[in-house]
Amino acid sequence: MRLLSVRLIVSLILGITLVSLLFSYYQVIGERRGLRGEVQRRAEVLAESLANNVERTWNVSSNRELQRLVQRFGNREHLIGVAVYDRRGNLVAMTPELEKMLTASPDVVTQAIAENQGQSAFLRLNRVPVYILALPLQQQDEVVGGLAVVHDVSYIHEQTLRVWRDTFQRVLAQVFLIVLITLLIVRWSIAGPIARAAHWMRALRMGKVSSRQEMPDLDLFRPLAREVATLAESLNQARNAAENEARLREAAESLWTADRLAVQVQTRLDGSRLFAVSNREPYLHQRNGKALEVVVPASGLVTALEPVLNACDGTWIAHGSGDADLEVVDAQDRLRVPPEDPRYTLRRVWLTKEQEEGYYYGFANEGLWPLCHIAHTRPIFRADDWQHYQDVNRKFTQALLEEIEDIPNPVVLAQDYHFALLPRLVKERRPDARVAIFWHIPWPNPEAFGICPWQRQLVDGLLGADLIGFHIQSHCNNFLQTVDRVVESRVDWEHFSVLRQDHRTAVRPFPISVDLVDDESAESKDHELGYIERSALLRNLGVEATFLGVGVDRVDYTKGILERFLAIERFLEKHPNYQGKFAFVQIGAPSRTHIKRYHDLLAEVEAEAERINWRFQTSKWRPIVFLKRQHSHSEIAAYYRAADLCLVTSLHDGMNLVAKEFLAARPDERGVLVLSQFTGAARELRDALLVNPYDIEQMAEAIRVALEMEPEDKQVRMHRMRRVVREHNIYRWAGSLITELCEVRLNAAEDGQETLRKSASMA
Ligand code: G6P
Repeated sequence: MRLLSVRLIVSLILGITLVSLLFSYYQVIGERRGLRGEVQRRAEVLAESLANNVERTWNVSSNRELQRLVQRFGNREHLIGVAVYDRRGNLVAMTPELEKMLTASPDVVTQAIAENQGQSAFLRLNRVPVYILALPLQQQDEVVGGLAVVHDVSYIHEQTLRVWRDTFQRVLAQVFLIVLITLLIVRWSIAGPIARAAHWMRALRMGKVSSRQEMPDLDLFRPLAREVATLAESLNQARNAAENEARLREAAESLWTADRLAVQVQTRLDGSRLFAVSNREPYLHQRNGKALEVVVPASGLVTALEPVLNACDGTWIAHGSGDADLEVVDAQDRLRVPPEDPRYTLRRVWLTKEQEEGYYYGFANEGLWPLCHIAHTRPIFRADDWQHYQDVNRKFTQALLEEIEDIPNPVVLAQDYHFALLPRLVKERRPDARVAIFWHIPWPNPEAFGICPWQRQLVDGLLGADLIGFHIQSHCNNFLQTVDRVVESRVDWEHFSVLRQDHRTAVRPFPISVDLVDDESAESKDHELGYIERSALLRNLGVEATFLGVGVDRVDYTKGILERFLAIERFLEKHPNYQGKFAFVQIGAPSRTHIKRYHDLLAEVEAEAERINWRFQTSKWRPIVFLKRQHSHSEIAAYYRAADLCLVTSLHDGMNLVAKEFLAARPDERGVLVLSQFTGAARELRDALLVNPYDIEQMAEAIRVALEMEPEDKQVRMHRMRRVVREHNIYRWAGSLITELCEVRLNAAEDGQETLRKSASMA
């Protein structure tokens, strides 16, 4: 930096000096030209008038009279004197001041007489710079003599010197000021931000900071900030991967990482590519005034699938539902995402309003969603909705077929209850494709599923897949029982598969998860920081409290939010000592509000929070803070880190990733998870406080137990649950799903022959 400053200063001094000198040089030349012109004009006027006078009296006046005449003219500004010569150059008359300087007639006079024409010259007489103008004197067209007018021009020289002196002083002042300002700019806007960035990068290299939020303000270099942040994040990821690998080697564990998944998928795909299909897209583009915003929707499916696509650079086909989605895609409706660090392709599919209404709101969310979640909301089945559901499944199939057109043996991961018909539609056109569908929600028992008028078509569509995944074994069992009842097929209970029309479908549990990144920094383990973060969060919300609970959900009737509020009310009733001390923040992302049941629920949840708050609140405290908007991952993570407990009280849930995200956010091994026994997650997270969300008393008691649990107990439970999530993370989910899918034999007949061969060789 010092060298840069010296170079900068020297260049500035040289540059400014050169430019100033150049300007001054031209100024001096101009000035000198002007002054000389002026003296020339003055001399001309004087000489001509004198010449006239002398000529008029040449023959009639004596030398003495001529002498008097020239003396009359001799008293002008800057004029040294005048002299008159005869034709031979002999002096006739001269002003006294000139006598000391001019001993002989100057050359210009001799020349003017000889050529009968005015002559002039700038020269030095006795070291004094002068200007001499000589004119011939005539009588009846005859040259009879000459006259010289001599001006002192030393003032021109002085004037020039003054300009150079001023220039020098100006240059000095300019150089000083410009160098000073430049140095200040360099210090504030370049050196400062660079030093801060360097400090931050050093901390990053040494693993002392880990997140984007901690990045300093890079001022002028702001455009670089995003790139540097991405670089930093990649560095962090690489470091974490390396650390994980090292730990894995040391512990001889088989921990799944993004890198391992990428390698695994590449090996399994054997030159082919991965295609995911879901209704919800991972990034929505929306207009907010003139600004274009990117929104990550609240969806467990999106949370889980994003790291998989990031690791494998596949293509994700989804409904383009953002109002500015169309503006950012190419001619094939594709774009690369994530926007700040593109790693895979998103292909958007456009739906008409009617299609969205019938397929998404209608059949998927008013029909299948309540059908599969036994949460006491009656499913609604409309023939129109079913028609749209079939059309949209065909439309997505078409988009997928376009994407896989030139790809041999593509691997397709269809997602969720929006696409029950897609597996068969794809396989009919591309039997070489390996197709799996993962059902993210529960599958109910056959009696419950049986109320759907189109259950046979749905099951048949699903059985087009080579592999069907559920979160837990009991959902697989429910599905197989349903198959047994509604379609012609052979269910193989030993291998959990179905053989139908020569096609075999494997049915397996794959418990979905999150990416638990082990943050080994001291800060992440320091629970004091959690307390500080808590105070800041509560202060922002305008609530004073000692204990903090958190709940994070889409506002959905399956999530048990009302039951949770009732439990908080009961807890405060039973344990009044917690009144004024325990605050519960419910982050609730409004969801599917176009459906009346959801719209009403949002109002109900708000009203219930208000009712309970009204009952207990004081001027500085209220028990429930309902934050009714979508929050970013980082906003939610701050609440997770600051909370004493997290309440997950779903009435029924396929898995529930909030529970796992809460655990992932707690490297400090504090905080207690209160978890509904009706979630898929409850099968794995046995160290949570398991509750029945319909049992308000039990939930109220669980809140008390969580708040009063000994730190050691909390730590042991948290440690064990984090280990489960670390080992059964999202990469393992994707890795096992893809491995299983790639191992499935595409030809059931081949499969049969293989079995025969095996039994023959055993015999
Ligand atoms: C559940 C479903 C997902 C869905 C998410 C959000 O997790 O399994 O498929 O994306 O809810 O719901 P939304 O209707 O907003 O996509």
